[in-house]
Amino acid sequence: MSPISQKNFHTANPEEATAIDRSIPEFAAAQVSDEDDYFANHKPPSYLPEIKQELEEFVSYHKETTGKRIALVTSGGTTVPLENNTVRFIDNFSAGTRGATSAEYFLENGYAVIFLHREFSLLPYSRHYSHSTNCFLDYMTESNGKIEIDPKFSDAMLQVYRKYKQAQDSSSLLLIPYTTVNQYLYTLKLISEELKVYGSKAVFYLAAAVSDFFIPESRMPQHKIQSSATQNGELSIHLAQVPKFLSRLVDNWSSGAMIISFKLETDNNLLLKKARSALERYHHQLVIGNLLQTRKKEVVFVSSDKEDHWIRLTDEELKNGKMIESEMIPAVIKLHDEWIKKAKI
Ligand code: PMT
Repeated sequence: MSPISQKNFHTANPEEATAIDRSIPEFAAAQVSDEDDYFANHKPPSYLPEIKQELEEFVSYHKETTGKRIALVTSGGTTVPLENNTVRFIDNFSAGTRGATSAEYFLENGYAVIFLHREFSLLPYSRHYSHSTNCFLDYMTESNGKIEIDPKFSDAMLQVYRKYKQAQDSSSLLLIPYTTVNQYLYTLKLISEELKVYGSKAVFYLAAAVSDFFIPESRMPQHKIQSSATQNGELSIHLAQVPKFLSRLVDNWSSGAMIISFKLETDNNLLLKKARSALERYHHQLVIGNLLQTRKKEVVFVSSDKEDHWIRLTDEELKNGKMIESEMIPAVIKLHDEWIKKAKI
């Protein structure tokens, strides 16, 4: 049994208070690139104090009892609600495969993991059986009027189950959900602050696909947008830019942690250029570049003090079910070792 209990939070529904009675003050729209304005003008999620409590317990347990390093893994897309009582929203493609798989390899390599994920996206371990192409019912069979695991899958499932139990029983995996970009930003800030005591033994692995644009709270309609709101049959929506919070995370929110961001592009000619410019702009330790089309097959590590390092899987390896994260995470951990050593000097 896990020594730490975890609650189930749900982030996918609008906050009850605002769903019933819109009492949110009319804040001004957030200014581009101004993180402070963002937090001054957007309400924190109501459940944040409870998350804070869970985080404190998790961080102090591992700091004082297990001595494990901690990886914060962010995973999945963020939604951008178009209405306060959200019927419609803007979303993106990310299913959370990168984040959920990476979390498993961090756990296997002795890390404790805070998994900040989009609610209902893929989770470590259950991802093997929960995706629409991996329906868990396909792994079952009926025998003498009873349902059981199809013997042809049971060995593989046992391996996954053991790893899952090990993560559970050792309280090494803390699941924290978000749905909207606002929930993501507030929770990321909170986690960063809670991890300050961990210094260089923490690594931030920011694989979530965070929206660059959103509708500020002050401009969001309370109820479902009516078709009568259109002009000449067209609906115009004005989105503001989400402040680039990464520089704030590096400079203020965290303290001494190794910070890894991802760069997603669709044009091969832009990938390295964009990864390098992110590194120059935010001064963090590593950018992992990937292309939408080939992200499961190849990634590139870009850092300021090393040659670009490509990790690639062969078609054969892909066919045999090898995940690129099984090579990415050991490479990340090697860099984290160096980071911790440097911090001690
Ligand atoms: O889930 P999968 O289907 O497996 O897909 C995995 C993935 C392709 C989503 C993942 O590997 C990945 O690339 N994630 C990052 C995608 C992304 O958001 O890239 P970006 O170029 O928009 O942002 C780059 C970085 O800027 C992010 O790491 C983020 O920390 C930062 N950022 C983003 C938005 C914002 N408003 N402020 C930021 O600071």
